[in-house]
Amino acid sequence: MARKQNGSRLVPILRLGLGSLFATALVLPSLYLAILNSIWAYLRSNAVYQASYFETLWTVICYSAIEPYITHVFIQNPDWRFGSPREPAGERARGTERTRPKGMRRPARRLGEGLTYIFPLLAMDLTMIKKFADVPIEAKLISGNYAPDLAASHSGHFLLPSVHNFTLDSPLQTTRALPVLAPSSRRLASELLLSFFIYDTAFFLFHLALHKVPILSSWHSTHHAHGPMHPQITNQLSIAERLGLVLLANFSLNIIGAHVLTRTLFVPIFVWLLVEVHAGMDVPWGLEKILPKGWAGGSRKHARHHAGGREGLEPFFGWWDGLLDWASSGEKPKSVE
Ligand SMILES: *[C@@H]1O[C@H](CO)[C@@H](O)[C@H](O)[C@H]1NC(C)=O
Ligand SMILES: [Zn+2]
Repeated sequence: MARKQNGSRLVPILRLGLGSLFATALVLPSLYLAILNSIWAYLRSNAVYQASYFETLWTVICYSAIEPYITHVFIQNPDWRFGSPREPAGERARGTERTRPKGMRRPARRLGEGLTYIFPLLAMDLTMIKKFADVPIEAKLISGNYAPDLAASHSGHFLLPSVHNFTLDSPLQTTRALPVLAPSSRRLASELLLSFFIYDTAFFLFHLALHKVPILSSWHSTHHAHGPMHPQITNQLSIAERLGLVLLANFSLNIIGAHVLTRTLFVPIFVWLLVEVHAGMDVPWGLEKILPKGWAGGSRKHARHHAGGREGLEPFFGWWDGLLDWASSGEKPKSVE
């Protein structure tokens, strides 16, 4: 069997498929009206979807499916890894056999990692009222075990946290109030594009601070403590950094008033792209190959960041890194200092 060519045929197919999906979603929302309405009617009445901890659960499910899949691809394709003999000499490194790189853990050893992720988020889910866009304040109050006529004295704004009204009958915040209407496909597609752009910008700044501000750098050192790059490094994070990452994603969705269904779609795409950029290999379907040249960062650039480079601070796109490069290219060369 001929060796798989990295992405030669996949990329045009993905461009066409994803491109037409996005274009039709934006331009012809009537095409998706019926299907979105029935999906939303189903989800809205589903008890698991109504649970306050649905997004925490959903993120764990998505991560537990996506990361092991990309790890499998990594194990199966040693010659795609950065550092394999196929790579340019400068990037060649240790260990290219079909093995796990040092530091990669077996699934059974990762329960603790899962629990440290879940615990702080679950604690918030079970104590605070969810405040999503397009949900009437009365519905939010009812979900938090308050009388709906308290609307005048409570804020439904996402930036003002409200604690559940704990009683014996209702000791925890177990549900979340959902919008009545489904979003249009135009709204879904534009909210997704916008939220990824906002997150990418926000995380770029956060990441820059993690590298430049000495007090913060201890939060980030966990993420950089590893040998050769591999997909599991995606979630090798200090609790503070992981929480920062989740809160920034939440903020990026909240600030544009994203529909709950947008949030649900955001999670798998977000997790996918995050694992992809940490893959430590030349991913054949990489975002940097699908988007026009220079628009996305890609796993190679991010691996260079992990190897100590100054570039690749952006998680998904490449514009801010480009700007930073351009701005700092006027600086004195390091050797002069
Ligand atoms: C995410 O944002 C919603 C508001 O839309 C808020 O209710 C929820 O507590 C936030 N979750 C986290 C983990 O911050
Ligand atoms: Zn970093």
